[in-house]
Amino acid sequence: MRNLENKLLEILNPNEQMFGRGTFYQSFPDLKIQGQRSSSKRFKVYKLDKLLNDKSKVLDIGCNCGFFSLITAKNSQIVHSVEPNKTLIKIANLVKDHLKIKNCFFFNSTFDDFNTNVKFNLIFSFAVHHWVKCSFFKYIKRLSALLEPDGIIIFESHALNSIDRFFLKRIEIFKDLGFELKEINEIQEEKDMKRLFGILVKKENFVDVSSFNKLYAFINCYWIIFLNFFLNKRNYFIYLLKRFIALIFKLTGRNGKN
Ligand SMILES: C[S@@+](CC[C@H](N)C(=O)[O-])C[C@H]1O[C@@H](n2cnc3c(N)ncnc32)[C@H](O)[C@@H]1O
Repeated sequence: MRNLENKLLEILNPNEQMFGRGTFYQSFPDLKIQGQRSSSKRFKVYKLDKLLNDKSKVLDIGCNCGFFSLITAKNSQIVHSVEPNKTLIKIANLVKDHLKIKNCFFFNSTFDDFNTNVKFNLIFSFAVHHWVKCSFFKYIKRLSALLEPDGIIIFESHALNSIDRFFLKRIEIFKDLGFELKEINEIQEEKDMKRLFGILVKKENFVDVSSFNKLYAFINCYWIIFLNFFLNKRNYFIYLLKRFIALIFKLTGRNGKN
């Protein structure tokens, strides 16, 4: 086991990774591999023990090192996992071969360039919508097209105090575009921040959603971009102001703490 982990770390470490804080982003409890995020806790909190069965066809968008996809594959018919980072795909395939898992397939691609004729009944969109290049409106349109009727999407947030300040508004957009919210919940793991996730069921095909709802959802998608832009600019302005005041105190010989 240690040999496998060392081999994987040798592949992971020389290429600086954006996610995982210097180690794997996801843990793999059966292989005793630690990660920033706890796969066992996530599996439980997302209620995958109830959602998955031998008919599950799962799409995992931005699967990272693929550990969560491989764990999911044990309880599913098939798992298709998309990840643009080729180092992570190499790691995922090594573990897949090590465990002789045959029903999980890794695609080295962005979600934007990923093409498939398969229809899924469960999609994982875990902390990834910000990284996907297309607009949020187009993202939901694609998710809807990839899902069978009554298919489920588990939609998880990024940081709630920055990228996903308006996560609940995003959930409303899903609802406007033909999804029903089954559950909204929070998750917090020891080495990760608090996140929200929604479990949404596809109730209407995108083409059948009324033009009014589409327009409303479309405007809301751009409203979120505008609000984020405005708040980020405001934070940047406050930061510059603080630096400026600190500099004035320094130049005038005051430490500002008196
Ligand atoms: C914060 S991590 C989340 C990983 C995984 N979904 C999870 O929650 O355990 C975001 C992942 O999305 C991947 N990613 C970045 N751009 C992407 C894109 N355009 N399409 C699909 N995945 C992307 C990153 O390489 C990274 O592995």
